[in-house]
Amino acid sequence: MRIAIGADHGGYPLNETLIAELRNAGHDLTDFGTHDGSIPDDYPDYARKVADAILSGTAEIGILVCGSGVGAAVAANKFRGIRAALCGDTYSAHQSREHDDCNVLCLGARVVGIELALEIVRAFVAARFTGEERHRRRLEKVRAIENEMSAKMSDKL
Ligand code: RB5
Repeated sequence: MRIAIGADHGGYPLNETLIAELRNAGHDLTDFGTHDGSIPDDYPDYARKVADAILSGTAEIGILVCGSGVGAAVAANKFRGIRAALCGDTYSAHQSREHDDCNVLCLGARVVGIELALEIVRAFVAARFTGEERHRRRLEKVRAIENEMSAKMSDKL
């Protein structure tokens, strides 16, 4: 699978473990770093890179790691078409794909341990959107919200 991954300094070095795991599993990875946790940087920059990779078709899904996972999720969800799930358990990880068709997984490196993070990533990557009508209907409502907000912004310009 084509996967984009990015982490700020708070997400390092968990991201390195995830990168190794995903590469070993044979995934085609676009790695946006950081590879240096000693330099303070900004999670929205990584959210932008991962979101752009998905929206341009370079990646099918993305993984963002920051200290709590919260900032990364907030930033990623600002991009139209991105559905980012902050997960601290495997149930949410697979359901976020199966029901909500999420395309970005966010993790908090200061919150989850390495083994749990690996299981969460495996669950997210292996799961697929079920495509059931009720889930499609709900996603259409989410898209309607996006469209309304975008129209309101255009009116203000
Ligand atoms: C960085 O210190 C930290 O604020 C960031 O990684 C993230 O946890 C924000 O939500």
